[in-house]
Amino acid sequence: MSQTAKFLKDYRAPEYLIERVDLCFDVFDGHTAVTAVMRVLPQTGAGAMRLHGSAELLGISVDGRRLPESAYRLANEVLTLDGTPAQPFELTVQTKLYPHDNTTLMGLYQSGGNLYTQCEPEGFRKITFHPDRPDVMSIYTTEIRADKARFPVLLANGNRTDGGDLPNGRHFAVWHDPFAKPSYLFALVAGDLSCTRDSFRAADGREIAIEFYTRAADADKVAFAVQSLKHAMKWDESRFGLVYDLDIYMVVAVGDFNMGAMENKGLNIFNTKYVLADARTATDADFDGVESVIAHEYFHNWTGNRVTCRDWFQLSLKEGLTVFRDQEFSADRNSRAVRRIHNAAFLRRHQFPEDAGPMAHPIRPASYVEMNNFYTMTVYEKGAEVVRMYHTLLGEDGFQKGMKLYFQRHDGQAVTCDDFRAAMADANGVDLSQFALWYSQAGTPVLDVSGSLRDNGDYVLRVRQTVPPTPDMVEKQPMMMPLKTALLDENGDAVRFRLPENGADTAETVLLLTEAEQEFVLQGVNRAVTPSLLRGFSAPVRLNFPYTDQQLALLLAHDDDPFARWEAGQTLYRRAVAANETALADNAPLPDHAALFAALEHVVRADIDPAFKAVLLTPPAEEELWRASDIDPVRLHHAREALLDALARHFAEDWLPLNLQAKTAEEALPDCYAYSPEAAAWRSLRNLCRSMMLRAAPAEQLEYVFEHYDEMAQNMSHEWGLLNAVNHIDDPRRDALLARFAEKFADQALVLDKYFALIACSRRADTPQCVREALSHPAFAPTNPNKVRALLGTFARNHLHLHAADGAGYRFIAERVRETDVLNPQTAADLVRAAFSLCCRLEPHRRALMKSELEKLAALPELSKDTREIVEKILA
Ligand code: PHE
Ligand code: ZN
Repeated sequence: MSQTAKFLKDYRAPEYLIERVDLCFDVFDGHTAVTAVMRVLPQTGAGAMRLHGSAELLGISVDGRRLPESAYRLANEVLTLDGTPAQPFELTVQTKLYPHDNTTLMGLYQSGGNLYTQCEPEGFRKITFHPDRPDVMSIYTTEIRADKARFPVLLANGNRTDGGDLPNGRHFAVWHDPFAKPSYLFALVAGDLSCTRDSFRAADGREIAIEFYTRAADADKVAFAVQSLKHAMKWDESRFGLVYDLDIYMVVAVGDFNMGAMENKGLNIFNTKYVLADARTATDADFDGVESVIAHEYFHNWTGNRVTCRDWFQLSLKEGLTVFRDQEFSADRNSRAVRRIHNAAFLRRHQFPEDAGPMAHPIRPASYVEMNNFYTMTVYEKGAEVVRMYHTLLGEDGFQKGMKLYFQRHDGQAVTCDDFRAAMADANGVDLSQFALWYSQAGTPVLDVSGSLRDNGDYVLRVRQTVPPTPDMVEKQPMMMPLKTALLDENGDAVRFRLPENGADTAETVLLLTEAEQEFVLQGVNRAVTPSLLRGFSAPVRLNFPYTDQQLALLLAHDDDPFARWEAGQTLYRRAVAANETALADNAPLPDHAALFAALEHVVRADIDPAFKAVLLTPPAEEELWRASDIDPVRLHHAREALLDALARHFAEDWLPLNLQAKTAEEALPDCYAYSPEAAAWRSLRNLCRSMMLRAAPAEQLEYVFEHYDEMAQNMSHEWGLLNAVNHIDDPRRDALLARFAEKFADQALVLDKYFALIACSRRADTPQCVREALSHPAFAPTNPNKVRALLGTFARNHLHLHAADGAGYRFIAERVRETDVLNPQTAADLVRAAFSLCCRLEPHRRALMKSELEKLAALPELSKDTREIVEKILA
């Protein structure tokens, strides 16, 4: 690797702590001047003081005396100070920033005339010179001065302690945060924003002020987010006993943002996508996203802010845990079963490929070049699964005991994943040392399971565990994990059994895997059974069991564990797509999928939660179906599409009545077109039916949708469902519908993102051309990450067109990466990751084409560190 990596094993405690940071931001038209006054505490044996920084440096003083330039050296964004005192001293740093030129959206930047900061992970160093590492925690006071008319709102972390007018039409505000925090949680906002106020009565009786800041035109779309915050505050009190600690909680929405949202202490900054929602412009899925991200950032106040990470290798300490907490919040809010299935499907679609590719890393990476590249599906989503395994192993009570001890020991500290594991182990008096392997071994474990009935009536499960090699590590050790198991008889009824350890009689158990090969005896079974395995998706693994199609049909019809029931169907779908793929490769007729469709009869007619029905009728995504190597993504795409077409035709008589049943149920709900989990569930089924009807009879259905669009498009969920269903049809009416959609929402940035995504995900032959044309659409902006993700990120996941056999898709993305990289390295790196991670698993022809685009990128001397790290890892 041609770039310098940082290693976990090289961690050293900081040589200089900083007790207080007093910041003053003087905002002017062309620049912002920053003065940072820091109370520095040298630790014993400290060497020369080293600070990170990339801002324009105007001057440095120690204890009020300006240092001559000979007293410091600045190289590679590291400032080394010679001869600073060994006793506590005051360091003053003056810098000059140009936020309007800052397209990276890290540090201090401008968006729509307002100023915002983003500091996690290493953005504070773009503001001033500072150690900028999370184990240096300080008390921050922030003063902001700016023109009162242009910047009426001045915000920073903590409580507002002072403010008033200044000469020349300027004003100021002072904010003080009483909690010590790392620099990555610093935030500032200055601008012309409208404020929506509410409040929350905390469990300890305090009244917490809630303030949401948006552009004035968006203020009518924050009510749902405000309510979500109050639900989250209440839930964290009741489920975890955690109470908010400041007197005010602020959320600011900004249209230009690299990620979803940021948990800055007392002053969250959010991508508008996760704050603004009303039924006209947001889908049910968008509402869901708002609720869970609002909750996620709020939960960080304890898991992330009060107890933070010692270093960035520990990122999953806060992210895995906080994702687990937001998943549990959403599950407690509604339909736990369907949520769990969505979590599992999401992990398998997005994280499993990462674990099987060039970027594979454990949830605690051992090294990184650019930390921005490690906000990954692995750290977040697999990290959450690892936390969930503690919960499964210890139970709710044991888990809560562990959390209590974790806060008792570490409140106010910057700690490691080992500290978390130790708290869980110690609070429960169990040995979790083997569990540490989840933090150091990458790759998705594979469980090969078989079962047999002994003559004495015992049922024996044999489990073989392997962890596949990844680029960072070849030999792996067996891991500790829970395998939740039950047994079904031939009628699908639960079979009780006894556990040899304690003789307990039960219908479900959590088997504890610790070895490469293990045998588990379930006693007193006495009949032929079908095992129901990995219930609740009890571990983030792939599991193989030699089920017959009949056994899968039985599980799909009767398993009382919703995940296992769904998984049986998924396995049948996987078999069907694989059979289609073989037929396509051999130019043979497609199979009839009789076993699958027979099993699905039950599902179509079952009286179950409509959202559950919708997921049961959805086959795995293409990404879940990729084999280990020699992938032809286009053939796989056609194989899956052919299955969907066959499914649509097989149940052609059922979709309309099912849709009508769902319509009646939806419309019977109070305020039915507003978001509610019940209405959303019915709509998810309706949109599935619509897409199936469009597949079964495209011409007739398009005609109908075109004629009745306005009365059918009752809210954005309906509108989105209709447009997605017609989006693949090569007909001018589809173009007319999309054009009307763009016009109707011309002033709604977040809806235009949907318009761009529709263009980019279409299967139509003209999609590559349309995507290229959309680059010059007036609403497209290469500086706006939401727009780049909507158009280019979506195209990078359109496997039919990205993987065009002539390499045109690869070339197109590579060109866009070059352009984006100059503006926003992080967004460019994400695009490379989305489009090119599959490289080494592709069939040889496409692999060569993709590789040549990657090599051209690698040869660019000016390529950013972010993008280069990903490109080189893929090429390695
Ligand atoms: N810490 C944020 C979250 O997950 C994500 C984030 C990372 C935002 C880096 C901005 C920059 O809640
Ligand atoms: Zn987070």
